[in-house]
Amino acid sequence: MRVHHQLPEWQAVRAGAAYAGKSVGFVPTMGALHAGHRALLARARADSDRVVLSIFVNPTQFNDPADLEKYPRTLEADLRLAEGLVDDVIVPPAAALYPDSYAYRVTEDKFSRELEGAHRPGHFDGVLTVVLKLLNVVRPRRAYFGEKDWQQLQLVDGMVRALLLPVEIVPCPTERDPDGLALSSRNRRLSPRARAHAAQFPAILRSARSAADSSAALEAAGFGVDYVADRDGRRLGAVRLENVRLIDNVPL
Ligand code: PAF
Repeated sequence: MRVHHQLPEWQAVRAGAAYAGKSVGFVPTMGALHAGHRALLARARADSDRVVLSIFVNPTQFNDPADLEKYPRTLEADLRLAEGLVDDVIVPPAAALYPDSYAYRVTEDKFSRELEGAHRPGHFDGVLTVVLKLLNVVRPRRAYFGEKDWQQLQLVDGMVRALLLPVEIVPCPTERDPDGLALSSRNRRLSPRARAHAAQFPAILRSARSAADSSAALEAAGFGVDYVADRDGRRLGAVRLENVRLIDNVPL
């Protein structure tokens, strides 16, 4: 597994014999990898001749500077988790991905303003912009995204269609702990007590009869509720517990 901290070094490998005529599967991440990311990498490995992982904590998608500051950076552990599944890891510096200092950006002006977008202004502009840049840098045949970030998945898929990008976006099911909590790098910020309590979030999303009932039941169970909404056959929610923001969605 090669690890590239500079884009030109990666681009030379991408242009060379190791990638000539090969199908490339790509998993973009912000690091703090867990078993959910490993499942994406395993899927990419099964589908592709070459697998590329990016690790980049993208500053433009954090509307709260404190959240960016607190985001876990665990490169050594991430590389251990990726070992055996990945051919190349790119860990680019921010200046390499933003030579324009974010003067140019991708904006979707409908769905990106709802749900997560309504609570995190500018978040999806940052996500779409960095994903487009990474797709240009990696040039994969397929890119893998988890269904846990369902709105992100829909928006990335929409961008690929809108901009006629030659890549297939592959949705992958949410990985969960045995108690039902969706795997997330944010879970590690919960105290043991809150972590045990957090399993009620997906359970209530699933069991309540309506989005409004879910919201009321989550409030009663001690969660701060940002939203619960039913969209396209799924119930999506975002809650806060001990200042940690959790999102999830379940099929209706
Ligand atoms: O889902 C994530 O980890 C990020 O939003 C992504 C897609 C890597 C873009 O920074």
